[in-house]
Amino acid sequence: MLFGQKVHPLSFEYGARASVKGKGIEVRGESFKARVGCDAITDFCARVRIENPNATHAGNYSDGVVEKYRAGRAIAPQKRAGGGGGRFEAKGAIIDIGASRMAIEFAHGLKIETAAEGYGFNGAKSIFNFDVPGATGFYGFGERTKRFNKSGDSLDFYTVDVMAVWPQSYWRDDYDPAYVSIPLAIIRVGEQCCGLYFDSAERLVMDCGQIQPGRFIVQAMAGQTDLYLINGPTLRDVVRNFTALTGRAELPPGWALGYHQCRWGYETAEEFEALAANFARRDIPISALWYDIDYMDGYRVFTWDKKDMPRPRALNESLKKQGIRTVAIVDPGVKIDKGYEVYESGKAAGVFCKTASGRDYVGQVWPGDTVFPDFTQETGREWWAGWLARFLKESALDGAWLDMNDPSTGWCATEDMLFGGGTLPHARYHNQYGHFMAKASRRAFEKLDPDRRAFLLTRSGFTGTQRYSAIWTGDNDSNWSHLRMSIPCTINLGLSGVAFNGPDVGGFAGNATPELLVRWYQAGFLFPFFRNHSISNSKTQEPWQFGPEIMDRIRDVLRTRYRLLPYLYQCFFENHLTGDPVLRPLLYEFEDRELENIDDQYMVGGSLMVAPIVRPGEGADFIMSGGVRRQLRHITLPAGWWYDLNIGEWVEGGRTIRYGVAADEAPIFAREGAVIPWYHGKLKNGDTLLDDFETHVFARDGGTATGTFYIEDQETRAYLKDGFNTATITVALSGREASVKVRETGPLKGGAIRLDRIVVYGASGLSGKGWKPGTRRWVARDIPVSAPAKA
Ligand code: GLC
Repeated sequence: MLFGQKVHPLSFEYGARASVKGKGIEVRGESFKARVGCDAITDFCARVRIENPNATHAGNYSDGVVEKYRAGRAIAPQKRAGGGGGRFEAKGAIIDIGASRMAIEFAHGLKIETAAEGYGFNGAKSIFNFDVPGATGFYGFGERTKRFNKSGDSLDFYTVDVMAVWPQSYWRDDYDPAYVSIPLAIIRVGEQCCGLYFDSAERLVMDCGQIQPGRFIVQAMAGQTDLYLINGPTLRDVVRNFTALTGRAELPPGWALGYHQCRWGYETAEEFEALAANFARRDIPISALWYDIDYMDGYRVFTWDKKDMPRPRALNESLKKQGIRTVAIVDPGVKIDKGYEVYESGKAAGVFCKTASGRDYVGQVWPGDTVFPDFTQETGREWWAGWLARFLKESALDGAWLDMNDPSTGWCATEDMLFGGGTLPHARYHNQYGHFMAKASRRAFEKLDPDRRAFLLTRSGFTGTQRYSAIWTGDNDSNWSHLRMSIPCTINLGLSGVAFNGPDVGGFAGNATPELLVRWYQAGFLFPFFRNHSISNSKTQEPWQFGPEIMDRIRDVLRTRYRLLPYLYQCFFENHLTGDPVLRPLLYEFEDRELENIDDQYMVGGSLMVAPIVRPGEGADFIMSGGVRRQLRHITLPAGWWYDLNIGEWVEGGRTIRYGVAADEAPIFAREGAVIPWYHGKLKNGDTLLDDFETHVFARDGGTATGTFYIEDQETRAYLKDGFNTATITVALSGREASVKVRETGPLKGGAIRLDRIVVYGASGLSGKGWKPGTRRWVARDIPVSAPAKA
């Protein structure tokens, strides 16, 4: 399959006549008759369904939209005054359908139209051909390489194992597609945004003005594509509305927000014990160690290698006592092996995917010849969930890592894999294989304990996978391009609903240099998912591998992440409630044309902005200041005032500045008016979050600052049933006085927020009991740290 190729729009046939027929519009071309219908889904979303008469199978089998929004309420069209076609009037949008063109007017006023030849068919393929000359931003699209704004790019929606599909070029920053398919386009025209979500699990191609500037072309290679029109007008509105439609993530367990250490190549129990001891000895906090494929017996899923891992349960329990959780990789490929219980039981239950000849589909993964569970069927999911639950329990594991589920089948043609006992074509579920594996794996956690928060990480995913799992962005390379592109990739994935995501820090393949490794930690230390991972034959890249000076720099930012865990937790809570991503483009907070392309800076929640070094020092400009050599970069400060946490002063925004960054610095700015919880107690592994924090306040003289905190037990899923409290802290400065107000509402017993330690940054002349001036740098060796390792 060649990616990026499209069918010429002139190869499609477009309608010639359209007329209202009952609750739909009938469109006729020379060789087809098609029906167009429209459903009101919510006040902020309408769905247009153009039924392809040549679709090989009727209906839509995408699992993207949450159940309650799948049905919709059919809207009857009104006849157009001037003849053919008709208009659907939904609350969210008015859609005008002609024989071959479509015009959409969102309730907030934005109009999006197709070209005269705007929608049509070519056999089982469908086309949407939008004329958007004023569009300056294209965002979302799930997991993407290269840059943030996809204007001028072409995007394929077909999940692949990147290293297998792009062996010559995966280390570049411009391959496409990757492991995840989320066909969401967020289009920005003028000062407004709207979302077009093409709900289809089939292969799609989108072209954002690459083959023709001003055109946005979408081609679906088969099946039924439903177009959900998602209202703006702001980027935030679109993301909130899209995540309402496709589901928002539950809260992860607190430990999952900490630092994760992984490597393909850790093999023995002794190595894991030594890793834990190394972190403890060096006072580096860590929340989880990860088992890659080497822990297994001959790569058989749900087994342990008895020689290297004689007592996995005892090992995991002992690590947990040190505050370190464990996560193990589970691949879908089950080794064909007579007498291997997992294989035999799957075979007996008939849960493996079939070929057209009715045999089990066979691929090649780590263990050699393998069969694949059919996660798309309830029976397959239950079978898998049973095995995974048993394995997690018996081994005392805390989480599961789902890999090779794109699906990756080695040299065997993936398209031969059929679903539903061989009755359903591959294409119907290819893009959803990883998604359904995540759904099945989530079920394992529910079986074990419905009150426990689950932690899953998957490589492949589809629209709505955040309902089940976090995503990491797959096999990257230890190079500067991949460090740079990890920011737009994580941001676009967040805008597409999957906030909990991140790259392999330090790069997976290739050898990290000390400089790259440090800059990657500094760039990523506030990413939602934060894990160092590398390939087996590369140079080892744990924080201490390059000597004490490099380790100190890495440890500085790791400790700062742990200090900011209460803040990150609040960002995850916001994501759960509203869909707002944890990592956001500047444009999310400031709708300003100047920010449309910025992707080497990002916001963490609404209050912090990070502008890391993502280019090598070699060839860069440096300045000397304060006797320190500093690498220069440009930083765009959006309108308002920003507190520079490296220098300790207010900087006025609305401009771009040149900024010098020392080797041990990660530029980080707090927004005026922010209130940020900063963990105050002894640093330790695991998940101490809200209990002991200082309130860091960023207000200028005479100003105010406000923060919202969500309070619940931080451990169970009780917040879903019993609710949570919301506390709003408002601090107002006036002369030497400061007043603090806390308003806490909700069903729980209140009073968890302690305000006896308030640190005010950048306000002069303040005095008062319990107040401290905030002069401390956030990322620095002088952060007081006590022994971290004991839980
Ligand atoms: C895949 C994964 C990678 C893992 C390796 C071995 O390449 O993406 O993270 O280390 O398989 O399991």
